Amino acid sequence: MDISRIIRDFQCVPARLRRMFFSFAVAHVSGVVLLTIFFLLISAGVNRNLTFAQTKAVNFCISCHQETWNDAKTSAHFQHGVYCQHCHGGDASQPDQKLAKAAGTGYLGIPDKKQIVSICGDCHNNIEQMNFYGIRTDQLALYKTSMHGKKLFKDGDTHVAVCSDCHGYHEIGSVRDSNSPIYPLNIPKTCNKCHGNKTLMDSYGLPSDTFELYKNSVHGKALFGKKDISVAQCVSCHGDHGAVPPGVKSIGVVCGKCHVNEQKYFMESVHADLAGEKKFSGCVSCHGNHGVQHITSNYYKEACVKCHNKTSDAVKEGKKIFQLLTGSEARVATAENLVKQAGIKGVFVQDEVALLNEARTSMIEMGPLQHALSVEKISELYKKVSELTAEGYC
Ligand code: HEC
Ligand code: HEC
Ligand code: HEC
Ligand code: HEC
Ligand code: HEC
Ligand code: HEC
Ligand code: HEC
Ligand code: HEC
Ligand code: HEC
Repeated sequence: MDISRIIRDFQCVPARLRRMFFSFAVAHVSGVVLLTIFFLLISAGVNRNLTFAQTKAVNFCISCHQETWNDAKTSAHFQHGVYCQHCHGGDASQPDQKLAKAAGTGYLGIPDKKQIVSICGDCHNNIEQMNFYGIRTDQLALYKTSMHGKKLFKDGDTHVAVCSDCHGYHEIGSVRDSNSPIYPLNIPKTCNKCHGNKTLMDSYGLPSDTFELYKNSVHGKALFGKKDISVAQCVSCHGDHGAVPPGVKSIGVVCGKCHVNEQKYFMESVHADLAGEKKFSGCVSCHGNHGVQHITSNYYKEACVKCHNKTSDAVKEGKKIFQLLTGSEARVATAENLVKQAGIKGVFVQDEVALLNEARTSMIEMGPLQHALSVEKISELYKKVSELTAEGYC
């Protein structure tokens, strides 16, 4: 007799009934009655004609496949009554293996990749069913627009990712579950199972070092080092179900989701209108994509000449901005030094510290602002920094 299963089946009785049962038990019942109920429960496991046994919870797939159940009983599905037969088909009320999987029961065996997409997709795009759980229902629709989905449906290519490649299948967890493969910290590794496979990626002419580049980028270091899950990982830039590389037109939008000010000022720059023309890929032209690094104003010395002639007006503009940026940095550094020394000498420097902080703020504002590539705008802040650092330090 499998007591654990009986208890488990019992747990599947709606909570309300369970509560009724327990208040009944606690309020009225002596040990004898409890014992009787206990035996009733045990016999329910044997004689499946009793009311309790008629609940959907009696599931002979589970009886035979205890291991699968035990490994995954805490998964989002098994917790919510999505059982074996919902994905594999078959008749779960049949204790006999042959009958449980007979023709006409819809038994699929182990589903292939296309079947997986429709099994998962068709239940998850059912708005009536899913509304109850408050989760989105657009996964299948988006998946079909992704490179993965297109390849699977158009070319029958089974090397691409389907639902279970990213989510697993029996031990599926929520995005909030830090063990699930779709938890932000785990996503890069999930994608890397295939995107780091050199033989596979070579056959598509795609790079296989994306993960390595990412891991060493500012984003990757913040994700893995500081466990900062607000930072960009594969899915923040590519979308989850609609995994496609952001096109020339949408890169700014992708980065701009998080870097709002840089995006705003970039849109004011001379390069913004070039987005549709493939001559300029927005943020990526200067920062790269997977390997984004922390850069400084020194970058002006190399960036502009990558695309513009050394003697061009564009490069001259770049030089002016560079000078204003480094000029401000130098002024703030000098002022910091003076304040520090005065402090050591015992001079009262409270006012100077306040001015210095204001100067620092203006200098920080230059970071996003310089993306407008406007000498005029940067000059305004430069003037402010000069004024704030010129007074009262001698
Ligand atoms: C009486 C026990 C029994 C019942 C009931 C049973 N199975 Fe199985 N199942 C087995 C055994 C044993 C195997 C492995 C040997 C085999 O392939 O026949 C198996 C294999 C499988 C496989 C792998 C098939 C493959 O091609 O390798 C799946 C999937 C599966 N069962 C799902 C189910 C589902 C779904 C149900 C309920 C509708 C179910 N089983 C009911 C005993 C059972
Ligand atoms: C959410 C859908 C889903 C549910 C629910 C589910 N399975 Fe599966 N199962 C799959 C998929 C998908 C695969 C195939 C994965 C692959 O090989 O790519 C699979 C594979 C299997 C296999 C092959 C061996 C293995 O583990 O890879 C067995 C056996 C099996 N399932 C039995 C069960 C049983 C028994 C249950 C209920 C306790 C169950 N499954 C519940 C989707 C599901
Ligand atoms: C390329 C990997 C990938 C594939 C393929 C994929 N998913 Fe997802 N899925 C994710 C990621 C990552 C998340 C987490 C959400 C996020 O971070 O945007 C997610 C989230 C989900 C969620 C939770 C949504 C919510 O609102 O909480 C469901 C449900 C889901 N996926 C179902 C599916 C189904 C069904 C399929 C197949 C049609 C599928 N997924 C294919 C990566 C994938
Ligand atoms: C019979 C319907 C059904 C099928 C088939 C199904 N699911 Fe689900 N799925 C659900 C329900 C119901 C939930 C529970 C919702 C919740 O977590 O609150 C769920 C939860 C999930 C979640 C967790 C969502 C979250 O963030 O809480 C993911 C991810 C998911 N399913 C992916 C899949 C994948 C991948 C497959 C195919 C291998 C699949 N589902 C097959 C109904 C289904
Ligand atoms: C099961 C293996 C597998 C997994 C897991 C996987 N991919 Fe893919 N992906 C592929 C294959 C194979 C291709 C090649 C299809 C093509 O482009 O022709 C591809 C293509 C892509 C493309 C399009 C590349 C291009 O320009 O052609 C993007 C973007 C992408 N994947 C992102 C992701 C992201 C993000 C994840 C993780 C959330 C992920 N993939 C997980 C196998 C996988
Ligand atoms: C900060 C945003 C960002 C992150 C994070 C990111 N990507 Fe990309 N990815 C892009 C952009 C932008 C492109 C398009 C590059 C272009 O067209 O110049 C791209 C291109 C791709 C391509 C197409 C081939 C190529 O390299 O051009 C694949 C595949 C890909 N990314 C997979 C991934 C995977 C896997 C991860 C996680 C390890 C990831 N990406 C993380 C922005 C990102
Ligand atoms: C999901 C949000 C998100 C997206 C999308 C994103 N980033 Fe970031 N980015 C961050 C966060 C958060 C940091 C700060 C990381 C840290 O703590 O070091 C950062 C840091 C940076 C830095 C370094 C800043 C510094 O102080 O040196 C640069 C440069 C950068 N991102 C460029 C980009 C580009 C280019 C894209 C698009 C291809 C992009 N980011 C997409 C969130 C994002
Ligand atoms: C990825 C290539 C690329 C980079 C890097 C680049 N530019 Fe440009 N820039 C262009 C293109 C393309 C045009 C459109 C006119 C043209 O075709 O020369 C343009 C136009 C301009 C113009 C408008 C005047 C003109 O020459 O037509 C200015 C000013 C300019 N860029 C400044 C800069 C500065 C400053 C930098 C360095 C911070 C820079 N650019 C970096 C590609 C680039
Ligand atoms: C023409 C080249 C160029 C383009 C295009 C560009 N950046 Fe920058 N970006 C830089 C330089 C140079 C710096 C360093 C400035 C400094 O330190 O003074 C920088 C700094 C940054 C920083 C560091 C934080 C800060 O403000 O100091 C972030 C974040 C950033 N850029 C994001 C973006 C995003 C998002 C885009 C697209 C909307 C973008 N950049 C487009 C050249 C560029």
